[in-house]
Amino acid sequence: MKLLVIGSGGREHAVIKKLKENTAVETVFALPGNGGIAADAVCVPIAATDIDGAVDFAKKEQIDYAVVTPDDPLVLGMTDALEAAGIPCFGPRKNAAIIEGSKVFSKNLMKKYGIPTATYEAFSDMAAALNYLETAPIPTVIKADGLALGKGVIIAETRDDAKAAVREMMENKKFGKSGENIVIEEFLTGPEVSVLSFTDGKTVVPMVSSMDHKRALDGDKGLNTGGMGTVAPNPYYTKEVADRCMKEIFLPTVNAMNAEGRTFRGCLYFGLMITPDGPKVIEYNCRFGDPETQVVLPLLESDLLTVMQATTNGTLAGTEVKFSDRAAACVIMASAGYPAAYEKGYTLTIPAEIAPRVYVAGAALKDGKLVTAGGRVLGVTNVAPTLKEALAASYADVEQISFENAYYRRDIGKRALEAELI
Ligand code: AMP
Ligand code: GLY
Repeated sequence: MKLLVIGSGGREHAVIKKLKENTAVETVFALPGNGGIAADAVCVPIAATDIDGAVDFAKKEQIDYAVVTPDDPLVLGMTDALEAAGIPCFGPRKNAAIIEGSKVFSKNLMKKYGIPTATYEAFSDMAAALNYLETAPIPTVIKADGLALGKGVIIAETRDDAKAAVREMMENKKFGKSGENIVIEEFLTGPEVSVLSFTDGKTVVPMVSSMDHKRALDGDKGLNTGGMGTVAPNPYYTKEVADRCMKEIFLPTVNAMNAEGRTFRGCLYFGLMITPDGPKVIEYNCRFGDPETQVVLPLLESDLLTVMQATTNGTLAGTEVKFSDRAAACVIMASAGYPAAYEKGYTLTIPAEIAPRVYVAGAALKDGKLVTAGGRVLGVTNVAPTLKEALAASYADVEQISFENAYYRRDIGKRALEAELI
């Protein structure tokens, strides 16, 4: 079989490595992939958002199955275009990807169908938003409606900060069109849990839970990033919480999307907060999370391609999706400075014995050698009987990998280890 994976990050590298465990897979093409992914796939310089380019390529190469992982091509309708060209595809259609593409849409959906989430107001008029902030409870959370590279969420500790955030989004257009509409919502507290799920629009199969580490620096300090490391499973996601989530959140969400005529097929990501009132949705993503995927897929014991095809064909109920009961830990190595400005172009050395556990996110090939080319450069994942062992193994690997300006958090999994003891 010939597969096509659209995207270029560590998540895509993890997806590709897992897909290749199926011996029927002959070739995987990555659009555009990266210098590290090139060891496992044929990288083709077509941008992930180039719908016409991807469809032409898929037709020319007679691709058997395509996997679309990043948010922007999904929200733009990459799946619809590939399907229209006769290429079966993993990932929701445009009308379902809106669950991530518009916060106003997802908040209204949750309100309409009684799915637990922070209370909120949506605004398209800046004066009305500023007026609302005169009496809104503080702290408050301001969210740009559209995709904003994970940066469109501001937690304001004071009324003035909240107003400044609204002005940045609506007046100064910090996030362009994404900030023309905004959501102002209640500040929730509690541990966060990421649950990725497979769904064919009828059945929801949650994957093993995980915990992201979004801040750049140790102790959850510094700027928000795409994620500096992950562990799985997440100790806060107990059996009781999982049962409540299925009943109160997962199934109601999939049913709500069906009722709206927006059937969701693919990976639906639930960003949850376990509040004192129970689990609530912080955000939906219409795709695999990154770096969550880098701990979740190594624990998948079933064949990924078979499961993905079942979401496309509507046969998930009869398909085995089995996860290991071991633990996984992923440590991200980034370029110092990320998520703000950073240098690139440094030689990257990954010892051959470690390479199977590495997912490359930001590297290019220069004269046949790997050089850094992104903020998040790579992730290292180990699977072990306990989280403690998985973390120790990943940190031992990280010490063997070198590039100038390398930066990584030293406390990935610390909170999870503490929580395991409670
Ligand atoms: P998001 O991009 O929606 O995942 O938001 C980024 C981060 O902001 C989340 O991972 C949470 O840590 C935090 N956050 C978002 N919404 C809220 C909320 N209503 N209350 C507290 N924290 C929030
Ligand atoms: N790691 C968070 C995300 O993928 O959205």
